[in-house]
Amino acid sequence: MEGKRGFELTKSLCKEYKGFFKIGAAVDAEDIFRYQGILQQHFNSITSENDMKFEKIHPERGRFAWDASDKLVEYATRSGKYMRGHTLLWHEQMPGWICDENTDILTREDTLKVMEEHISEIVSRYKGRVNCWDVVNEVIDNDDGFLRKTRWFDIIGEDYIDKAFHYAREADPKAQLFLNEFNGNQQEKQERICTLVERLKKKRVPIHGIGIQGHYSIAYPKMEEVRAEIERYARLGLQIHITELDVSLFEYSDRRPHLGVDVFERQKRQEEMYYRLFEVYRQYSDVVTNVTLWGVADDDTWLDDFPVKGRKDAPLLFDVDLKPKAALYAVMEFGGEQYGTAS
Ligand code: XIL
Repeated sequence: MEGKRGFELTKSLCKEYKGFFKIGAAVDAEDIFRYQGILQQHFNSITSENDMKFEKIHPERGRFAWDASDKLVEYATRSGKYMRGHTLLWHEQMPGWICDENTDILTREDTLKVMEEHISEIVSRYKGRVNCWDVVNEVIDNDDGFLRKTRWFDIIGEDYIDKAFHYAREADPKAQLFLNEFNGNQQEKQERICTLVERLKKKRVPIHGIGIQGHYSIAYPKMEEVRAEIERYARLGLQIHITELDVSLFEYSDRRPHLGVDVFERQKRQEEMYYRLFEVYRQYSDVVTNVTLWGVADDDTWLDDFPVKGRKDAPLLFDVDLKPKAALYAVMEFGGEQYGTAS
């Protein structure tokens, strides 16, 4: 493998991090073949990017489509990788049979039944093989309320979250159960996350960890926010996974259709951002037990369609030709002087 620095990359990202945390990547079953070399060399954890989402895995009531998720779990088992299941409940990528206006699932009782069936079937099928589940994803409201007004919330009420964790626990008592969120580096959101987790813990809901998504950019966030968020969650006594890390070349508010002549400068800033983030994560490796990137290489990233549809981004550690980027070398360099230290 030829790197930007002109020598063959014989090191392995996940081996370099062996004493710290697992290194993961989000993939779908269809990606495994293309990325197999990189996955084998550099990653010891995988997350399902889309194959386990509700609309894909449970397209009709009582009918599950296991093909893709089975392939992924079999791959993880066979190659000895830690497997993160993503995600049991999320308000997006939901099937019409639950969310359409003419759905016949309308009562609390029936909705709970659907939810239980969904969680129990999936978690028990992969018992002992999927090590960890994002039981609920993005359930905190970003604006006025406290919890997001999802279908589950509207019909069941606030305790749908408690129930979801209990159903998962019953189906696989050994799986690690997570709540996964974004923007928790922002003060208000962080408070809400902690309030929810404290409530759950008080009610003895089986929750083991908080997932920090980590969709960042070359200009966001500040390292002191990254630290403060980790420290705050650690005080709750839970473990932390960085679940969806990527570093966009565009600031979030920047809606230009493509990059300009400053692309090299942006790549440099990305490299530095990655260096600093991993430097902080290493310092908290007693609580941060997994750092997962939201993809493997820049040839396939969700940021090509978000927040601007069809705009090419390059937020990962391998480039469009699956070659190591400078950012990859940066995170494998501990104490690299050219980056300074995290402030
Ligand atoms: C994204 C996938 O990467 C895309 O392929 C898909 O089209 C939409 O969802 N937060 C999450 C992930 O929790 O599930 C999302 O994944 C990205 C944002």
